[in-house]
Parts: sequence; C-alpha cells; structure tokens
Amino acid sequence: MTSQILDRGLVMDAVRVSEAAAIAAWALVGRGDEIAADQAAVDAMRTALNTLAIEGVIVIGEGERDEAPMLYIGEKVGSGQGPRIDIALDPLEGTSLTAKAMANALAVMAWAPAGTLLNAPDTYMDKVACGPGYPAGLLDLDRSPAENTRALAAAKGVEPTQITVCVLDRPRHADIIASLREVGARVHLITDGDVAGVINTADPDTGIDMYVGQGGAPEGVLACAALKCVGGQFQGRLVFRNADERARARSHGITDLDKKYDLHEMVRSDAIFVATGVTDGALLDGVQIANGFVETHTLVMNSASGEVRQVRMRRPV
Ligand code: FBP
Repeated sequence: MTSQILDRGLVMDAVRVSEAAAIAAWALVGRGDEIAADQAAVDAMRTALNTLAIEGVIVIGEGERDEAPMLYIGEKVGSGQGPRIDIALDPLEGTSLTAKAMANALAVMAWAPAGTLLNAPDTYMDKVACGPGYPAGLLDLDRSPAENTRALAAAKGVEPTQITVCVLDRPRHADIIASLREVGARVHLITDGDVAGVINTADPDTGIDMYVGQGGAPEGVLACAALKCVGGQFQGRLVFRNADERARARSHGITDLDKKYDLHEMVRSDAIFVATGVTDGALLDGVQIANGFVETHTLVMNSASGEVRQVRMRRPV
C-alpha cells in the first residue's frame, strides 16, 4: 500500500497537531469539567489539522455528525491539497483523568493512507494484546484470560505468576480479574486510558506483559496503530449493547458483527502514531507551563520507516 505518503513532513505535522491539543487541554487540568477539557482539545486539534496541506478524513472521531459538532466521523480536514489520509483521533484520551488532574491523560492520533483504518463504530471492544517477539496467534479472545496468561508465560519461558496483566478497573471486568488470579498473574489496574495500557505491553520498562478487557473500539484502532510501529499482537471484537449500536456498526460497513480483528485488519497499511502527554504519565511527561514557556513531550512513530521519536518542544507561551 502507498506507505510512501507517510513521509517525514507528515510526521512533524502530526506532532504539531497533537501538541496543540495537549496544550489546550492542559488549561482545563484539575478543573472538574470533562466536557470543557475535551472541547478545548477538539477545537485546537481541528484548527491545527485545517492548516495542513492534506486531504484528511476523520474515520475515528468524536462521534457521528449529529452528536459531535467538530471532528465527527467523515469530516474532511486540511486544505484538500496533498496526500489522502485517514485520521483516527482522540484529542483527549482520559477526559476524567484531566478533569481530576490525574496521571496519564494524552492527546492521540493515528494517520494512515486513505481507506486503510478500520472504521470502528463508537462501541466497546473486547481486547487482548501483548508486545513483540512472540509466535503469531498466541492470544485469542475465545480463550480465558487464564489460558492466555499460561500461553504467554510458556512463550516467555516464565511461570504465569511472573506475568503482569493490565486491566481497566471496572466492575464488568470482575470475571477477567478472577480468571487472572486463578493462575496467579499480577493484575495492574488502571482507572482509564487503555490506549497507553495496550502500548505499555510493547515496552519492557513498564513491566506489563499483556492487556485484557473491554474498552472503546476507537481506542482499539489507535492502540493498533501504535503496535503496528513497535510490534506486538492485538485481537479485538466489537461489543454491542443494543440494536442501535449494531445498526451503527452496519452503517460503518461492518457486516460480520462477531469478527475477531487482528492488528493488521484494524490498521491495514503503514501508519503514523502520535501522542502528547497532557498530564504526567508512564508513557509521556505532561504539559509544563512556567517562566513564560510551554513545554510538551510527544511520542511519534512511523511504521513505514520504523522510526520512533520522542519530541520535546519548548516555545514562549
Ligand atoms: P475518554 O478519553 O473518552 O475519557 O476515555 C477513557 C477510557 O478509559 C478509554 O481509554 C477506554 O477505552 C474507555 O474510556 C473505557 O470506557 P469506560 O470508561 O466506559 O469503561
């Protein structure tokens, strides 16, 4: 696929857009207003995207056109002159983390050649993921978390008790946690932010071996773009709570509602993944504003070149 379009210029464009969203959201850190924080990030991201020489289409955005005034699915961004890019975005991944001034809030995007990102509806998705270096097909959503842990432990050459699994701390995950405890795995609970939860499986420094649980499907696509760049395995299956959600998936062109998607079906080409810290976290430092300067910390990766960069930006406020 036309991965040549993901050139160096686009990587830096993506960084600037992500920085703008993070800086805008930072103003709302700790203010207790999730909606205002999200709106600030959305507005800044949209303004920054529209300065770029791209023909961009939002494929994962803030919702359908009628419920999201900006950055809705299908919205066109950029000047319309330039490469045709699919854009998946979460201008503020961790709205409540931001509102409560808690760690790990991020601005996140994935860019890929047009037509290559899964048009995931805004539903939940069951997810299981691990980092690189394991035999393909190691993890399967149709196996219990205990079985997946045993398989991963065997492939890693350790006991299941030495496997650490990241799980969103939600009542709906009680059975998953019980299954993990059955084999003695260490369970690392997070309050929010499963994009970073999945990415952390690919970073040995985090100590996280596997991610399991149900989170947003859009976040699944974003996490897959990141794993596409650094390696790893992911399996996801959409979860529908009602007929309306099923209809929404069909309107996104999804015919097999029970399909298990792997990483390369969620992101079918090369991709750029970019994330900027809003608040400090394991993955990135948050925005700092002091002494008349603003500083940001961004992770940007391009699967086409295999390049992974950490970008620190400093400019006068
Ligand atoms: P927001 O940025 O929309 O607040 O999402 C945060 C998040 O924790 C995601 O990382 C995760 O996929 C999703 O919410 C889980 O949804 P829920 O909070 O409904 O369990």
